[in-house]
Amino acid sequence: MDSIIVKGGQELHGSIPIAGAKNACLTLMPATLLTDEPLTLTNAPRLSDIATMSTLLESLGVEVSGLQDGQVQVLSSRQITNHTADYDIVRKMRASILVLGPMLARDGHAVVSLPGGCAIGARPVDLHLKGLEALGAELDLRDGYVHAKAAKGLKGGTFEFPVVSVGATENILMAATLAKGTTVLKNAAREPEIVDLADCLTRMGAQIDGAGTSTITIQGVDSLHGATHPVIIDRIELGTYMLAPAFTGGSVELLGGRLDLVEAFAAKLDEAGISVEAGENSITVSRKNGRVNAVDVVTAPHPGFPTDLQAQFMALMCTANGVSVLEERIFENRFMHAPELMRMGANIDVQGGTATVTGVDKLKGAPVMATDLRASVSLILAGLAAEGETVVNRVYHLDRGYERVEEKLSACGAQIERVKGNV
Ligand code: UD1
Repeated sequence: MDSIIVKGGQELHGSIPIAGAKNACLTLMPATLLTDEPLTLTNAPRLSDIATMSTLLESLGVEVSGLQDGQVQVLSSRQITNHTADYDIVRKMRASILVLGPMLARDGHAVVSLPGGCAIGARPVDLHLKGLEALGAELDLRDGYVHAKAAKGLKGGTFEFPVVSVGATENILMAATLAKGTTVLKNAAREPEIVDLADCLTRMGAQIDGAGTSTITIQGVDSLHGATHPVIIDRIELGTYMLAPAFTGGSVELLGGRLDLVEAFAAKLDEAGISVEAGENSITVSRKNGRVNAVDVVTAPHPGFPTDLQAQFMALMCTANGVSVLEERIFENRFMHAPELMRMGANIDVQGGTATVTGVDKLKGAPVMATDLRASVSLILAGLAAEGETVVNRVYHLDRGYERVEEKLSACGAQIERVKGNV
């Protein structure tokens, strides 16, 4: 397995291009199952999670061609030749459950393994299933698989999510585009990736109102057609690299960055004393003075502070001036980076879903272990500012969600390299 070695202490100066959003692409790709015409996605990120979704779709009979080094994905689902999403693929990535709604909507039946994914809590799929039931699906859970049927097709209905779920909103939204009649989704997720999915579905001929608000109304249509859609930029990659100069000092321009996608997060950077300036088609972040201020954070569904930036922000708070309290409200067990940061000298006390971080002067490089996607990048950021060398092991988590992280950071002056492992 590869490792990443970071030598801390370099100020960062330069620019970093932001890729297309992994999480958007992972829901746009299954949308191809809704139509027999090709769906072309441009600005796709080149990540192992995208390759996993391609493999899953191919197993269902979708032809996938990655053009221009993977940045363009052409997906063609003339016919779904296999309606079973197998455990061997699904267990690698939780987003695999997103093939369920589209397959069921198009052909009236689907079998999907219950998913695995990052080890950040129980992460059930009950809301995906309840939402589909509200559209008339008959579901049966057997041998670790969901067997779903809608012999006469799905029917529009009203469903109120008891908790906000991004994935469940996406799944039901896709399914509802081909259901008979009107579907109303209440307490729907408002993430930018939902808006991007609705835009793509609209390009494919769907009738959707209210995406980006908590009530989405979908008027079912008989069929969808092909389309070309640019994947929205990755606001989590954007936020992650916005933090880099906050750790090291210096100034970095994030190309393609949009402040409207990261408002709650940018407000916290401002509180911490970091300068964030929006340009025409970029954001520039700089840290001029010494230590950052300690800031409290509570994660929440969009437009709140994203859980996917909590680990990285916690790493920043490890050397802040004062005490910060971080509350994780989306996922249980999402503080696995805390013990690794403590190996680097951080002072963190975790009690349930709350972490109290008392800032120290400096972190010290150490061998650490990436435990999930966002945790792994938080350790790299910490390493950029730490004294000495940090070796981040198990970086396959990183490759799921960050494209060419070493290249992007070293272009700004970071001392970072990947060491190929044997396995
Ligand atoms: C998506 C993102 C992930 C992000 C998360 C929250 C993708 C591929 N992943 O994950 O990066 O961290 O949103 O912003 O887009 N829940 C249930 N039952 C369900 C579904 C969810 O109880 O059926 C709970 C979860 O356990 C969690 C909360 O709802 O506590 C939110 O999860 P959800 O928004 O569904 O996350 P994902 O879509 O899996």
